[in-house]
Amino acid sequence: MLIGADYYPEHWPKDRWPTDAKLMHEAGIGLVRMGEFAWNRFEPEEGRYDFSWLDEVMRLQARYGIRVILGTPSATPTAWQVAKWPDLLPMKADGTTFPFGIRRHYCPQHEGYRDACRRMADAMARRWGRSKQVIGWQIDNEFGALDGGGTCFCPRCLRAWRAWLRRRYGTLDALNEAWGANFWAQQYTDWDQIVAPMQPVTSQNPGLALDWRRFSSEGMVEFQQVQVDALRAHARDQFISTNLMGMYEELDYEALAAPLDIAGWDNYPIWAAEAVDPAMGHAVTRGLKQRGFLVFEQQSGPAGWNSMTAAPRPGQIRMWTWQSIGHGADAVVYFRWRACRFGTEQYWHGILGHDGVPRRRYKEVQRTAREVARLSKALAAAQVRPQAAIWHTYDSNWVIRFQPGWDKMTLWDEAKRFGRAFARRGIAYDVVTPKADLARYRLIVCPHAVILRPDHVEALRRFAEAGGTVVFTPRSGERTWANQVTPEPRPGLLRKLAGCSIGEYDMVRQDKPGQVEMAATGRLYDAFGWCDLLEIEGASVVARYAAEFYSGTPAATVNRVGKGRVYYIGASAEDAFYDDLLSRLAEEARIPTVGPLPPNVEVLERRGKAGRFLIIVNYTGDAQSVDIGAKGKNLLGKGTVGPKIDLEPYGVRVISVQ
Ligand code: GLA
Ligand code: ZN
Repeated sequence: MLIGADYYPEHWPKDRWPTDAKLMHEAGIGLVRMGEFAWNRFEPEEGRYDFSWLDEVMRLQARYGIRVILGTPSATPTAWQVAKWPDLLPMKADGTTFPFGIRRHYCPQHEGYRDACRRMADAMARRWGRSKQVIGWQIDNEFGALDGGGTCFCPRCLRAWRAWLRRRYGTLDALNEAWGANFWAQQYTDWDQIVAPMQPVTSQNPGLALDWRRFSSEGMVEFQQVQVDALRAHARDQFISTNLMGMYEELDYEALAAPLDIAGWDNYPIWAAEAVDPAMGHAVTRGLKQRGFLVFEQQSGPAGWNSMTAAPRPGQIRMWTWQSIGHGADAVVYFRWRACRFGTEQYWHGILGHDGVPRRRYKEVQRTAREVARLSKALAAAQVRPQAAIWHTYDSNWVIRFQPGWDKMTLWDEAKRFGRAFARRGIAYDVVTPKADLARYRLIVCPHAVILRPDHVEALRRFAEAGGTVVFTPRSGERTWANQVTPEPRPGLLRKLAGCSIGEYDMVRQDKPGQVEMAATGRLYDAFGWCDLLEIEGASVVARYAAEFYSGTPAATVNRVGKGRVYYIGASAEDAFYDDLLSRLAEEARIPTVGPLPPNVEVLERRGKAGRFLIIVNYTGDAQSVDIGAKGKNLLGKGTVGPKIDLEPYGVRVISVQ
């Protein structure tokens, strides 16, 4: 378990480097990430590589045993590269290009640049691939983080898009069929007639819009692969990764993470009013590999480019760090070591301010790093082992974003309704995609699974038959993989599994909600959003609508499938609904619970050979008390604590329990 800092030695005079290394060591920082934007320093002119300056920094750090993650600098092509290749700049949907200097200003299909990135990764890997000090690699930086999310509309991308469609569909007939080209005379008679969605995607053919996203995402995955291969050829005992962005939705992270050794992400919780936001980001990242992960960037100061957020309150940096560890992070690297005096990110603060003087935030990091170091061995040998999962596809997310149906519908909002309910009962969950091993879970929630392939349905059916519980929420099964509405009654491919079909649906505003009534208890809840009116075909009723012309119509059902159960929840609802539903689900699925806990207080667990550790974080600035239903050894303090625990604002407890 390592605590680290993102460090930019290229921003500071050489004579400061020794002081930084010493101060890092004294703060308990044992890991730095460096290099990811330093192309101009690594290759000042074409073909002349200079890595000596970074070697010098690393030597200073090595004196204190500080380990290194190296970033490949492909997010920041240099001025001389852009001068050489004016067509490197990515094109926006309106036909204008992004300017130099904004970061990520490259077309991901550019062969010349791909090759330059290959040569850079190759040179770096030859230099440091056997270094014991270097523990791993970060490729590029936050793939997709530019308006458009990694799409480029340049003529080269248009050609690549047409070639991609040709490979995917083989014939124009197949493409025309898949896209429903009879609508508005969209039939293509030549591949070169096919356009990219240069207008707002919302008015585009839905089949084209979805395929364009798939194509753009795959292009980024291919772009990354060039560097994965170059690094693999020389890297020994070093991981290869990239810094993802949690609930980011423009790129297919399942595909992007597939060739990587470990997943990692950048965590800036200051914008997150609720614990569920960082929690979900952690769960997404953990779910990609179904194991421990890294936080490449963890907030450690006020953040912003031209204006700033509030400063982290005393205790908040420590609490965020423990929250990350409680969710399965095996290293937490703070962004960043020191606020930069120049450049776009002048106001993005780190552990140190501009003047480099250690103050409050430094001391809090130091305290946190000491705590983590003391427990590092035990915690590293223990993992988060969820029995529940949230299952999603990027394709469903894209479809919902083009056509939300109910204008407020988002996949992550629906996921968070369950995420909050899980947290209130102390239930850990991974967020997973179809490639995941489902056998390790007992309960799988599929929020708005709008678009499904037969093999997805098959995997979920097998999971249920073996005794698992699957939950679908509104609009699931609506579409085929080509993004056409299913020809069958909804929920299409899920109909048999769910034991119900959907007759009508209604769109209900959240501020003028309808109601549903839980059949077992008679309790009423506000319900809203896309509301599916269910018709029973073998399932039993869990809840009914209690308002409007469809009052009395089933709103939620459960169907026995083999040894397990499949729920179809037809509406979105207020939090209390999910709390009550989850009590039932957890009991049926035999998942242990604690609480109910107050909102924004998390009881997280890592367990393994070294025992069971509960990490309890108070995400709020108010005192809280919780009942964790167990006693344990107080590892950050003295004695035994529990079952009732009083937490100070942003308070943290780490306890070992039997
Ligand atoms: C992202 C990037 C960092 C930095 C921070 C703050 O997470 O990866 O390089 O830009 O945001 O803006
Ligand atoms: Zn392009």
